[in-house]
Amino acid sequence: MDGNFRLLGLLTLGLLLFLSPLDVAAASAGRERLSLNAGWKFSRFTSNPDQLSYSTLKAWMLPAANDFVIRGKQQQRPSGTPPGNNVNYVQASFSDSAWESVNLPHDWAIKGPFNAPGVSGGMGRLPSNGVGWYRRKLTLDDADVKAKSLFLDVDGAMSYAAVWLNGNLVGGWPFGYASFRLDLTPYAKAGENILAIRLDNAVENSRWYPGAGIYRNIWLVKVDPVHVRQYGTWITTPTISAQSATANLAVTVENKGTASKEVSIVTRIYALDAAGQRSPDAVATFPTAKATIAAAGFQTVNTSATIPNPQLWGPPPAQKPNMYVAVTAISASDTESPLDTYETPFGIRSIAYDPDKGLLINNQKVYAQGTCNHHDLGSLGSAFNTRAAQRQLEMLKEMGTNALRTSHNPPAPELLAMADSMGFIVMDEIFDCWANRKTTNDFHLIFADWHEADLRSFVRRDRNHPSVVVWSYGNEIPDQGSAAGATTAQELEDILKSEDPTRLGTTGMNSASAGSAFASVMDIISLNYQGEGIGPSASSAAPSFKKSHPNKMIWSSESASTLSSRGTYIFPVSSALSTTVGGATAGGNNSALYVSAYDLYAPSWGSSPDKVFSQQDRNGFIAGEFVWTGFDYLGEPTPYDKSRSSYFGIIDLAGFKKDRFYLYQSRWRPDLKMAHILPHWTWPDRVGQVTPVHVFTSGDEAELFVNGKSAGRKKKAQYTYRLRWDDVVYAPGEVRVVAYKGGVEWATDSKKTAGEAAGLKVTVDRATIRGDGSDLAFVTVAVVDKDGEVVPRAANAVTIGVVGKGEDLGEVVSTDNGDPTDMTVFQSRTRKAFNGLALAVIRASGEGKKGEVVVEATAQGLKGGNVSILLA
Ligand SMILES: *[C@@H]1O[C@H](CO)[C@@H](O)[C@H](O)[C@H]1NC(C)=O
Ligand SMILES: *[C@@H]1O[C@H](CO)[C@@H](O)[C@H](O)[C@H]1NC(C)=O
Ligand SMILES: *[C@@H]1O[C@H](CO)[C@@H](O)[C@H](O)[C@H]1NC(C)=O
Repeated sequence: MDGNFRLLGLLTLGLLLFLSPLDVAAASAGRERLSLNAGWKFSRFTSNPDQLSYSTLKAWMLPAANDFVIRGKQQQRPSGTPPGNNVNYVQASFSDSAWESVNLPHDWAIKGPFNAPGVSGGMGRLPSNGVGWYRRKLTLDDADVKAKSLFLDVDGAMSYAAVWLNGNLVGGWPFGYASFRLDLTPYAKAGENILAIRLDNAVENSRWYPGAGIYRNIWLVKVDPVHVRQYGTWITTPTISAQSATANLAVTVENKGTASKEVSIVTRIYALDAAGQRSPDAVATFPTAKATIAAAGFQTVNTSATIPNPQLWGPPPAQKPNMYVAVTAISASDTESPLDTYETPFGIRSIAYDPDKGLLINNQKVYAQGTCNHHDLGSLGSAFNTRAAQRQLEMLKEMGTNALRTSHNPPAPELLAMADSMGFIVMDEIFDCWANRKTTNDFHLIFADWHEADLRSFVRRDRNHPSVVVWSYGNEIPDQGSAAGATTAQELEDILKSEDPTRLGTTGMNSASAGSAFASVMDIISLNYQGEGIGPSASSAAPSFKKSHPNKMIWSSESASTLSSRGTYIFPVSSALSTTVGGATAGGNNSALYVSAYDLYAPSWGSSPDKVFSQQDRNGFIAGEFVWTGFDYLGEPTPYDKSRSSYFGIIDLAGFKKDRFYLYQSRWRPDLKMAHILPHWTWPDRVGQVTPVHVFTSGDEAELFVNGKSAGRKKKAQYTYRLRWDDVVYAPGEVRVVAYKGGVEWATDSKKTAGEAAGLKVTVDRATIRGDGSDLAFVTVAVVDKDGEVVPRAANAVTIGVVGKGEDLGEVVSTDNGDPTDMTVFQSRTRKAFNGLALAVIRASGEGKKGEVVVEATAQGLKGGNVSILLA
């Protein structure tokens, strides 16, 4: 390898270098990372059971942030007995046999019931509030306790987590979306240990459904006291050509021991294939570094290597998301067996933010075809599940999405790993408010004490992901209009730059004006709704931002907010391009609490997709958009606060596509031959009435046929994105469209009048899943007529279960239908179809299950159906 190196801070760091690489064949030697997800006991209390509170715990929590605050601000652990050490729940002697047995990730609120006292519609009406205690035994052997550092890594716990080991308060971290590490070593003992975690959620702590509990993965890391520090690697690729790429690596080694230690650090780079498998041989090796790490200290060691013929990371379809992994081994100089090995997946790509062309990845323009999404996974709640998240990303990809905004908080780590391997670009966002609140008990309460640590740990956690292209340190910040807000923005911007000078920072601005001090701080102008103009008649504010900020990239960080209920069409249909929802004449049903799926309706600040597209296209410098939202989510049920979940999604809460899925697809996948007709064509109550037909197609022209008779051939005019036949008079039968592109037939679609409901059609997203109790099968039940046509307004109550021989192998985790008004708990096996469809989520009923399970759906008066799933 023709690796070179930079020798940095030689004198202060005590660095020595030599060039013969150590053997790192024992790739996983020295470090164990064990899942602690299994075997917890849990109890929720609606009133405080222990007299503890953040104000009493805070002084013991703050030291956990010490690695993420600048020198001088570090907090000493107070002396004396910590709060809570005398609470029953942290003692080994406490009997938790009456508590619920749970495995993590766990969201205590998702089982309901709805209409929880004190919880608003905004927060999803589910019981996320209260104090939750989790307890688990942890067996450690003598060698671990004597010779290892033992860390608890929590990917996310909602919220105000405080942790005790063997009756000793270890520490905690309040922000519910943060990942954090606590050092268990001082409190661990050989044999059985008791780990107890307290969470505390106030009411009105969020604008949307926050979920509750230890809702992400949790790990025990056992490692030599001399090891790669948490998030202790940082790889950048400052120069890239077809022949080679330079990779700069910073490794921070920490020594938790009592004596200084001389170590060798060697890092090899392997290519990863699409399945994540490592190449047999290293493609490059960083020069080996020697360093002496002081007792209770740490050091950052920088080296550089050249990677030949780099396979670049970039978003499909134009590029490929090629990945590499750097494997770092830390060895004591006198032995060849590593004390620690640490893996850093990364990608090689360049990034530029062009004020006129937009985002350039590897010098190729990437127009952001993005969606914003909250963290919940519909009927599974906030409990993170890799397959559920992957299914969402697959559907977004099918629509042509290439960009994700993690609105408005850090995502699960696994989501970014998937974004890397699937090739999404990510606007990685951390805060929804700063020092000024949006809700009574939100992050503003802890902003002053925690924002620096939260921001630094977030950037260090996520900065090796090639998918992350922009940092967002705020969303619609209440302070965006004030001078104080601009000052805070600058402080956050400075923190970002000190952790990552390779990317730009921004916040989503819904009201800051082009000339504001706040906008001046932003590296990128990210417009929420201002990109297309706020409300139905306004046009884009982007030109005025462009005038004030000619050298900054401008994009729509939040767009549309179109509202609809899947499969519900309300008449008459507005002839407007975009209009504000408001009662039956403008697309809303105020008694049934549905919004028309013609996808023309929005709240006062929102717009139809068509209006957004038109404003984007009239201002070609806008670098793309992030639609609010890809999926419906729990909470924020605008415009009907009585409901449980949102109406904003392009896809409903159950994962069923609304019509505008195809409008986005027609724009974002122009080469995919597709056409989509709406509405459905089963209107026994509308015979002889005007029933507009709209068509979304990637073609440029289409002819509509109503019962075989042409209703006319229409061409898309400039800045129009749907074809509409607004005068069609309904008669039962069939509507059929033939779309053309460049005069050549391109795609067709049709909708037929369905008969009476006769049976259930049951299908599954994947016929084989892992029988590990975590992998999921998503089963769709459609109410169909005797010919198998979906009955579009069917609302039959469907009961779904695992039956037959494999009955004990699988279970129904949840059911849903995408209806924002349905208050039946998600665990119910009986679910009314909503506009013809219901969903059941199935998994193996534990680990190591193998065999076939049959999922059966039945409904009174209908022929039942089933589907079989293989657990492998
Ligand atoms: C090592 O590299 C990191 C990341 O590029 C950089 O921030 C740091 O300043 C470098 N360290 C030294 C001592 O130059
Ligand atoms: C609104 O919903 C109610 C109750 O389902 C229904 O009777 C009514 O026809 C709906 N109104 C419109 C305009 O669709
Ligand atoms: C599943 O459906 C098939 C076809 O309708 C039927 O023959 C079979 O008995 C059903 N299986 C179960 C376990 O209900």
